[in-house]
Amino acid sequence: MKRIFSGVQPTGNLHLGNYLGAIRNWVRLQDDYDCIFCVVDLHAITAWQEPRELAANTREVAAAMMASGIAPERNIIFVQSQVPAHAELAWIFNCVARLGWLSRMTQFKEKAGKHRENASVGLFSYPNLMAADILLYKATHVPVGDDQKQHLELTRDIAQKFNSDFGVDFFPLVEPLIFGSGTRVMSLRDGTRKMSKSDPSAYSRIEMTDGADDIARKFRKAKTDPHPLPETPAGFAGRPEAANLMGIYAALSDIPIADACARFGGGQFSAFKRDLADLAVSVLAPIQDETRRLMGDEAYVDGVLRDGSRRARALAGPILEEVQAIVGFLPA
Ligand code: TYM
Repeated sequence: MKRIFSGVQPTGNLHLGNYLGAIRNWVRLQDDYDCIFCVVDLHAITAWQEPRELAANTREVAAAMMASGIAPERNIIFVQSQVPAHAELAWIFNCVARLGWLSRMTQFKEKAGKHRENASVGLFSYPNLMAADILLYKATHVPVGDDQKQHLELTRDIAQKFNSDFGVDFFPLVEPLIFGSGTRVMSLRDGTRKMSKSDPSAYSRIEMTDGADDIARKFRKAKTDPHPLPETPAGFAGRPEAANLMGIYAALSDIPIADACARFGGGQFSAFKRDLADLAVSVLAPIQDETRRLMGDEAYVDGVLRDGSRRARALAGPILEEVQAIVGFLPA
C-alpha cells in the first residue's frame, strides 16, 4: 500500500513556497495515494505562538488546504494535537534518535540562530516529532519542499535504528517526494534565501491571503539585476533573483522553465513582473475566495477536522499499540 503523510505548520499565513512546494503537489497526488494531511500545531509551538492566533491559524490553514483542492472525503485532513499518539510516539523516538543526529539539523541551527541556549527543547527535538507523524501511519511517501529533505533522512535513520534495536521489520523507510519547479521558492528580497514565514520583511514573500494590489507591489519591488531576462536557463548563472522569479512563473503556469525563458528571454523585468503578478493573482484569487467562504462556516471546518482526527486515531491506535508492545510496555 502506498500511503502519503505530509504536514504544514499553522504559524501564520501560508506563502507561495508552501503552496508551490507542497500543497499543490498534494492535490495532484490525492488520486494515486491514500493521503493523510496534517496541520501540525504541536510543531508550531516549538516557537512562541499567541494562543488565540494559533487557533485561528490552525483553522485557516485547514481551510486553505481544502480551498486549494484537497478533498476532505477522499483524504484525511486533521490537526496534530487532536491525535495524542503523535506525542506518544515522539517520546519513544526521543529515546531512539541520538543527540548527534539532531545537532546536525540545519533547520535547528537556522531557527535557533546565535541564541541556541534560549531555543525550546521542542525546537531541538522537532524532527523526532516529524518522524513520529509519518511513521505513526507507516506512511511510505512524503511530499514536501526541498527544505525538509534532511528531516526525512533523519526519519529513515530513526526507522532503521528502531527496527534494528528491537530486531523487527516494523517501520518502512519513507521516500521523499520532491518534484515540480516550486520545490525551493526563494525570497523576493534575496534570491539566495528561501521564502519563509519567519522572514521579518513581508516584501520577501507572497502570502496566500495577499490581494491583487499587494501581489503586484511585492513583485514590482522584488530584487532583480540590471540585465535583460535570459533566453535559456543557462543564463541564470550568478543571477539567483532572475532564476527565482522565472521559476515562480514556470511553476505557476505549469510549464518547464526553458519555455518561460523562451517566452520572456531578452525582455525587461518590468513587463515580465506585471505578467507574473497577473498570473499569481489568477491562480491565488479563486483559492482565496474559497478560503474566505470556508472560514465563514467554522462549524463545517471544525467538523471536517473532527472527522479527520477520528479517522486518524483509528489508523494510529493499533500501530502505536504494536510499537508499545515491541518496546516492552504493559498493555493499557
Ligand atoms: P512548513 O510549515 O515549514 O512548510 C510546509 C511545506 O511547505 C514547504 N515549503 C517550501 N517549499 C518550497 N519553497 C519554499 N520556500 C518553502 N517553504 C516551505 C515545506 O517543505 C513543507 O513541505 N516540518 C514541516 C512540517 C511537518 C511535516 C511533517 C512535513 C511536520 N510533520 C511530516 C511532512 C511530514 C514544516 O516545517 O513545514
